Amino acid sequence: MVSFKVAFFLFVGLMVGASKAQLCPTFYDDSCPDVSDIVRGVVQQALETDDRAGARLIRLHFHDCFVNGCDGSVLLVNQTGVVSELGAPGNANITGFNIVDDIKAALEEACPGVVSCADILALASVHSVSLVGGPFWEVQLGRRDRRRANLQGAIDGLPTPFENVQELKEKFGRVGLDSTDLVALSGAHTFGRSRCRFFDRRLNVSSPDNTLDASYATQLRQACASSRDTFLNLDPTTPDDFDNNYYTNLQSNFGLLGSDQVLFSTPGEDTVDIVNMFAGSEQQFFDSFGQSMINMGNISPLTGEQGEIRCNCRRLN
Ligand code: HEM
Ligand SMILES: *[C@@H]1O[C@H](CO)[C@@H](O)[C@H](O)[C@H]1NC(C)=O
Ligand SMILES: *[C@@H]1O[C@H](CO)[C@@H](O)[C@H](O)[C@H]1NC(C)=O
Ligand SMILES: *[C@@H]1O[C@H](CO)[C@@H](O)[C@H](O)[C@H]1NC(C)=O
Repeated sequence: MVSFKVAFFLFVGLMVGASKAQLCPTFYDDSCPDVSDIVRGVVQQALETDDRAGARLIRLHFHDCFVNGCDGSVLLVNQTGVVSELGAPGNANITGFNIVDDIKAALEEACPGVVSCADILALASVHSVSLVGGPFWEVQLGRRDRRRANLQGAIDGLPTPFENVQELKEKFGRVGLDSTDLVALSGAHTFGRSRCRFFDRRLNVSSPDNTLDASYATQLRQACASSRDTFLNLDPTTPDDFDNNYYTNLQSNFGLLGSDQVLFSTPGEDTVDIVNMFAGSEQQFFDSFGQSMINMGNISPLTGEQGEIRCNCRRLN
């Protein structure tokens, strides 16, 4: 009886262990040992002609992970059996696919059929950050690509720039991320651009947003006057570098998106202290950012024999 119980619990333990997704940093050590250097090389090359290359890539990884986990689903275009996630408002005119294609091509040359598109986004993210002054973290690998997309999941799950802290926390909470993850990952807005349409309701002269610096608002109003599709810097101080200026900007009411500024300007929220901590210590921010990127990268990946390794990141095999 006792030995049956022991055997039973051992068996259950093994089953639980087996069904839990296991990513690891050494996944491609035998099958594609240069994977990280190859990805880094293509990202570096892209940055030479496009200051936003890294920003585009890390945003793709975020939008991938928040919808059914980090499974490469954001990359799929409309095709037989797939209604693309690119039809969701949060993905409207999202970019970076050409760079992903270039990375995929380089990897197919070196080790055909081995590296998933989901892992490409995770690796591209760390290099996008570390190549422009940000931290490096040990990327977990071994994700596989899903054979379907989830448009409704993208519509419901991606946060919008018009949400308050409660709503942002709720959406991060759904995928297992907490307030520290929310504040740290929002720090990715230390580089890249946003179209005016995502913040111009904060520029209304007849109902001024008093969490937006008045002279900055005047500047933005002028810059946005010609078109709501004008792209402006998310971080007006150091637009293309990865640093903690995003947080010092928030402390001076220089957050561009409403969803940025609310992290600091909502009294009583735990996010306020976290913004102050990251503003006060770039090292703290860098350490937390790496950990939160690992947390985000761990959102329900496909592993083992699940899904596939796509040949073309935009299409099912
Ligand atoms: C907290 C909730 C978030 C909201 C509401 C949000 C919203 C936005 C919006 C509206 C834009 C501008 C898009 C455009 O004009 O095309 C943007 C850009 C960007 N987002 Fe976020 N974001 C959030 C979190 C994140 C996270 C977690 C990351 C990455 C870890 C990220 C990385 C970026 C980057 C790098 C850009 C610039 C992209 C480029 O220049 O092409 N964002 N975000
Ligand atoms: C994909 O196809 C659906 C109809 O099946 C359409 O509503 C949607 O706009 C298309 N998405 C894109 C990104 O073209
Ligand atoms: C996407 O781009 C097209 C043309 O480049 C533009 O007409 C459209 O307004 C854009 N959509 C959004 C939501 O920005
Ligand atoms: C600006 O704010 C006023 C007052 O709240 C509002 O009536 C008006 O519709 C707003 N204008 C725009 C363009 O949003």
